Amino acid sequence: MRVRLIEIPVFSDHRGSVSVLEDLPFTVRRVFYIYDVPYESVRGRHALKTCHQILVAVSGTFNVIVDGETHYLTSPGVGLYIPPMAWRELTRFGPTTVCLVLASHPYDEDDYIRDYDEFESLRL
Ligand code: TYD
Repeated sequence: MRVRLIEIPVFSDHRGSVSVLEDLPFTVRRVFYIYDVPYESVRGRHALKTCHQILVAVSGTFNVIVDGETHYLTSPGVGLYIPPMAWRELTRFGPTTVCLVLASHPYDEDDYIRDYDEFESLRL
């Protein structure tokens, strides 16, 4: 599976909105969210050997540069699917931005590749 945007159904009426993530391409075993990120900060800067993730800007906006392509996430109605072995960098967080991450595996530091040269050599 490749990097792709996933449309998340949004149900809106006069009471507000609800967005629903279901029938996902992997079983979610971990959820975390990234927030209070200074605009100049870069998060991520890693690839994951086996973990699949979906990122959603549930509030505010941020950029995801993944395998050289930039995706500007601006809506709780859009998710970005990132497969294993994809280098990602998250940038340009706003003051109210919350990045929700759905992950296929529990946290395991051994699954991380944090050195870009190592990532390149493993990907060949
Ligand atoms: P890090 O991977 O550097 O964050 P990001 O990818 O958002 O830039 O993680 C920051 C710290 O949080 C690091 O000490 C590991 C810890 N952490 C966990 O313990 N469990 C988790 O599920 C995540 C995502 C991070």
